[in-house]
Amino acid sequence: MLYAFELSGEHEKLPAAEVLACLEIEGLEYRVHSLMDLCLVVDINGEETELEKTLKSKMTERLAMTHHILKVIGISESRPEAILELAEAFKPAGFIREGQNFVVRAKRIKHHVDFPGEPLEKKIGGCIYRKGFRANLKNPDIEFRLILSEKTVFGTLISSVDRSAYEARNPQNKPFFHPGVLMPRVARTLVNLSRARPGELFLDPFCGTAGILVEAGLLGSRVIGIDAQEKLVQGARMNLEAFEADYALMEGDACRIPLKAESVNAVVTDPPYGRSAAILAESLEVLYAGALSEIYRVLKPGGIAIVVSDKAAFEYGEKAGLRVLEIHAQRVHRSLTRTITIFQKD
Ligand SMILES: C[S@@+](CC[C@H](N)C(=O)[O-])C[C@H]1O[C@@H](n2cnc3c(N)ncnc32)[C@H](O)[C@@H]1O
Repeated sequence: MLYAFELSGEHEKLPAAEVLACLEIEGLEYRVHSLMDLCLVVDINGEETELEKTLKSKMTERLAMTHHILKVIGISESRPEAILELAEAFKPAGFIREGQNFVVRAKRIKHHVDFPGEPLEKKIGGCIYRKGFRANLKNPDIEFRLILSEKTVFGTLISSVDRSAYEARNPQNKPFFHPGVLMPRVARTLVNLSRARPGELFLDPFCGTAGILVEAGLLGSRVIGIDAQEKLVQGARMNLEAFEADYALMEGDACRIPLKAESVNAVVTDPPYGRSAAILAESLEVLYAGALSEIYRVLKPGGIAIVVSDKAAFEYGEKAGLRVLEIHAQRVHRSLTRTITIFQKD
């Protein structure tokens, strides 16, 4: 069965990568059908009711860089005639039941179509009306959506990600604030890419105010944080308490992690960039080399470690024995582009 994920445009590659990581975490078998501008279509195996329950609950709660999940009716060329043909031909069973009412919403993606969405919504609404269903613009049972990208994806909305929940967790809204924190949506996406699972151990050895740990904690991971500054450890505690995380915190040095070898399932960390955040080490080079070799030591084989930095971290990770899976750039503002390096321990 085909499902479409309407992606946020906040990064070129991370939103689609996050969807695939979450499907893997939920143990769903899938094949990528197509990746368009702001829309990923995936063919997912499984019994439909169970599968949609997982998409609606666990996947929707986990995802940060997706807006909506759709059950796909069909995909056509992005021309009004082709889209109308698709809507005329579609069989309602499985998408809308007798007695249910509907609305049609079209989403134009960037420059991909040069016709307005509204007249098309009306025409498609007419097609569905002629199949015996009533429109209800205010409080519909079913929302049909058209994603007008390189191709047009036609489907029904099965869930929407509550993106405002991430805004509510913005650093300034937490009990303890200190500058230099990743925004919650980015932190959550990285936690997802690390394949953090409920009940498993998740580590951030440069935890600061616990922005990353809070996101992993909300997903049910048992989180461990280390920071060199006592006041930040105290602040991290306040933030983790506020979100009822299952956590342990230590004031210490990321180059001497007091954990057993191969004890941690996943790591996401944001070490100091040498701009504003305090560094407890001789130099940034010594800090990165020491921390990455410790991350390698404590990570379980197969585990993923993600390092966010303003300089290349891959050499330090490779020297420590980690394998580079992917490197992404993320532009924060004119003078700061972060590098996100995803490593795996073989
Ligand atoms: C960029 S901040 C991390 C921000 C964090 N992601 C947050 O949510 O607040 C880097 C942190 O590394 C800490 N730090 C510096 N040197 C350290 C070391 N050797 N070991 C552990 N933490 C260290 C700093 O105190 C600072 O809180």
